[in-house]
Amino acid sequence: MKFGYFDDAVKEYVITAPKTPLPWINYLGNENFFSLVSNTCGGYSFYKDAKLLRLTRYRYNNVPADNNGKYYYINDGQGIWNPGWQPTKTDLDFYECRHGMGYSRFTGKKRGLRAEVLAFVPMGDNCEINRVTLTNETGETKDFKLYSYVEWCLWNADDDMKNFQRLLSCGEVEVKGSAIYHKTEYRERRNHYAFFSVNREIDGFDTIRDDFLGAYNNNDYPESVVMQTSNNTLASGWSPIASHRLDITLKPGESTSLIFVLGYIENPVEDKWESYGVINKKPAEAMQERYKTDEDVEKAYARLKKYWSDLLSIYHVESKNEKVNRMVNIWNQYQCMVTFNMSRSASYYESGIGRGMGFRDSCQDLLGFVHLIPDRARERIIDIASTQFEDGRAYHQYQPLTKKGNSDIGSGFNDDPLWLIAGTSAYVRETGDTTILSELVPFDNDESKATPLMDHLKRSFDFTATHKGPHGLPLIGRADWNDCLNLNCFSEHPGESFQTFGPSEGPVAESVFIGGMFVKYGKEYADLCELLGDKKEAERAHAEVEIMEKAVLKEGWDGEWFVRAYDANGHKVGSKECEEGQIYIEPQGFCVMAGIGVEEGKAEKALDSVKERLDTKYGVMILQPAYTRYHLELGEVSSYPPGYKENAGIFCHNNPWVSIAETVLGRGDRAFEIYKKTCPAYVEDISEIHRTEPYVYSQMVAGRDARFHGEAKNSWLTGTAAWTFVNISQYILGIYPTHKGLSVDPCIPEGFGNFKVSRKFRDAVYNISVETNGAQKGVKELLVDGCRTEGNVIPFEAGKREYNVTVIMG
Ligand code: GLC
Ligand code: GLC
Repeated sequence: MKFGYFDDAVKEYVITAPKTPLPWINYLGNENFFSLVSNTCGGYSFYKDAKLLRLTRYRYNNVPADNNGKYYYINDGQGIWNPGWQPTKTDLDFYECRHGMGYSRFTGKKRGLRAEVLAFVPMGDNCEINRVTLTNETGETKDFKLYSYVEWCLWNADDDMKNFQRLLSCGEVEVKGSAIYHKTEYRERRNHYAFFSVNREIDGFDTIRDDFLGAYNNNDYPESVVMQTSNNTLASGWSPIASHRLDITLKPGESTSLIFVLGYIENPVEDKWESYGVINKKPAEAMQERYKTDEDVEKAYARLKKYWSDLLSIYHVESKNEKVNRMVNIWNQYQCMVTFNMSRSASYYESGIGRGMGFRDSCQDLLGFVHLIPDRARERIIDIASTQFEDGRAYHQYQPLTKKGNSDIGSGFNDDPLWLIAGTSAYVRETGDTTILSELVPFDNDESKATPLMDHLKRSFDFTATHKGPHGLPLIGRADWNDCLNLNCFSEHPGESFQTFGPSEGPVAESVFIGGMFVKYGKEYADLCELLGDKKEAERAHAEVEIMEKAVLKEGWDGEWFVRAYDANGHKVGSKECEEGQIYIEPQGFCVMAGIGVEEGKAEKALDSVKERLDTKYGVMILQPAYTRYHLELGEVSSYPPGYKENAGIFCHNNPWVSIAETVLGRGDRAFEIYKKTCPAYVEDISEIHRTEPYVYSQMVAGRDARFHGEAKNSWLTGTAAWTFVNISQYILGIYPTHKGLSVDPCIPEGFGNFKVSRKFRDAVYNISVETNGAQKGVKELLVDGCRTEGNVIPFEAGKREYNVTVIMG
C-alpha cells in the first residue's frame, strides 16, 4: 500500500494522505540554518547545532506524535483548519504534501479556500521562508482570519526540557511592526536572537503561549483562533511563542500571498543594543527586506532549485530501470547530503541533544557526498582529523558548533582511526587534490601539536598495526563499527553505558571486522603513500596488510564464513561453535570487499553462507541465530529483543557491503537482488509494513525473529545512504574514481540492459555509454573518444573537458 507517489520530473515525493504510518519528514537547509518538517507541518528549526542553538520547540515522545511545528490556522467563520492538516486535524477537501530537494510544499483546501505553504531555507541565508498563498476558488467573497504559530525553544534544547526552575523565568520577547523577536538570554551572554515576521501589516499578535492556546488547551484548539481575536500581550517568562493574526478578504477567484520569515541573527558583542534593553534589529530588518515580495521569494526558490539540479547532474544515470534512475539521480544523493550535514544528530529518531558528529559516521558519510561538494568534504576531513589523538586513536564524537571532541564518550572505538583513511582516500581519488595531505592538522584540537594530515593517516594505520591481540587480529576496544558488540564491558546494571562501562579497552578481545578494514584501507593508505612518492612507506604498509590478511584467513576463518571476533576470554564470536550469534554479516561483507579469500574460494563460501543463513525478503540480517538472552560477555548486542537493531535486525548499513562484495565476485544478479531488498523505491509498495519514508533509507528493518518483521525504524540519518550510493554508483553501475582517473567496471544483473552515465569528475564531463551484451561483469572493450584503451581506467588528461566513452561488456 502507498500513501503517495514519486514525481520524478520535479524531483518530489507527493504524499496524498496526511495520516502516513509515521511522520514522513524532509530537511530544509544546506548550510547553517536547518529545519525538519513533517508531512503535516510538524518539526523544528535550529542554527548549526540542534542541541545548542535550537530555535523552535519540539516535544519528542509526544502524544499524539509530531504535534509541534510551524502552523498556519484558518478560521473562516465555519470552523478552523490547517493546510497541513495538523494540529486541528480538520478533514480537508484536498490535501497534498510535496517533499522536494530542500523544500516542502503543502496544499490544503476547505470550503473553496485553497491554502498553499511553500517552505524552504534560502541559499546563503539564516532563515526559513514560508510563503502562504491563499486563493478563493468560490464564486463568493470570503472573509477569514489566518494565524501563524511557532513556539520558541529557549536555545539549549536539552536544558529547555529539563531546567524549568530557571527557564520559566527567563523568556523575553519584543514586537516591532509585524515582526516578533525572541530574545531570551540576550541580556546576558548571548548575542543572538530569532524572529518571526510577515511582510504585511498584522491585525493582532500573541506571544504568550497560554494566552494564545488558552490554559489547558492543546494546540489543536487555540483560544485566540477559535475566538477570532489576539491578545496583543508581551511574554515575560513562561513559554514565549510567536503568532500573527491577519484578517483577509478575498473576492471570487482572488489570490493573495503572505511571506513569513523565521530568522536567526547574530550581532557583534559591541553592537548588541539599539537602545537600553532594546535589541539591535538592523540585520533582522535587512533580512526581512530581502524576502519582501513574491519576486524575491521566487528568485531565492529558483536559486535553491538550480543549486540542486547542478549538484545532481554530477552523477546521472539513464537506464531502463526507472527505480534505479530515481534513487541514483535524486533521492539517494539527496539523503547523502542530509547525512553529511546532520551526521546522526537531528532526525525524528535522533533527538538532536544526544550525539553530535560521529567520527566514523562522518567519515563514511563523506563517501557518498564527496563528489557533490568536495570543498566541504575537505573541510570536514580536517575537522574530523583535528579530534584525533597523537597515538592515532580518536574521539568517537564531536559537537558541530565547537568542533571539539566529546569527552563523555571519549575514544577507544578501534575502527575509528581507519575510517579517516577511508574518507581521505575517497576525497583524493575524487579530486586529485593531494595538497590536503600536507595540510597541518592539530591533535585533540591543540594547534601546537599540528602535523600534516598524511601523518594523521600514518598514525591511524599504525594504531591498528600495533594494537593486536593474541591471534594477531586488531583489538576491538569499546566496540568497532558495531557499537553494540561490547566485548570489554560486562555491564550488569541498568543505566550504565554499554560502551564506556568497565575496563572497556581490554588487551584480548579482537575484531575480524577491523582486520578486514585494515586490509582494505591499508591498501588505500599505501596508494596514497605511492602518490606522494614514498615507496618505502607504501611497501611497509603492504607488508603489514599482508600480515593481517594472513591472520584473518587463519584465525578469522570458521570453515564456512569469517568469524566476527574473539571475546575477552579468547572465545570466538560469530562462529559455529557459538550457541547463538553464529554468523555475523560485517566480516563477510568487509573481508570480501577487501579481497580477502577471493583466490582461496573462501570469499564465495562466506557470501553463500550469508545467503543461506542471513537472507530474508526484506534484506540481509546482521546476525543469526538471534540472541535470546543477555550475554554479559557480548554486551548491548544481546540486550535487544530478537530481530531488532544489532540483535538480528536487518541493519541496512551493511547490506551494501555484501552487495559490493558480490560485485567483487562478479555476481551481478545477487548484488542487485540485495540492493533491491532495502531500496526505498522498491519498498514503496509496502509502505504499510515498512512504515518509514519510502524515499529514503532507514537504519534498521526488523528481522525475521521480530514480531514486526519488515518494519523499519530510524529513517534518514544512517550510513546506509552513503554506502548504497557507493554500491550502486561505483560497483553495480561501476564508475569508480581512482587516482589515475575514472574506472569503469559494471556488475549488473541479467537483463539490466544498456545504460548511460554522465559523470563530472575533476573539471571534465564523462559521457559513458555501456553496452552490456548480456554480461554481468567484464569489460571487453573500452573506447575513449573512439580510441581503444587498455584496461578499465579512462586515462586522465589535464585540461581536457569532455570524454565520450563507450564500454562494451562481455
Ligand atoms: C549506528 C551508529 C553507527 C554504528 C551502527 C552500528 O548507526 O551511528 O556508528 O556503526 O549504529 O552499531
Ligand atoms: C545504540 C544503538 C546503536 C548506536 C549507538 C550509538 O547502541 O543501538 O545503533 O550506534 O547506540 O551510541
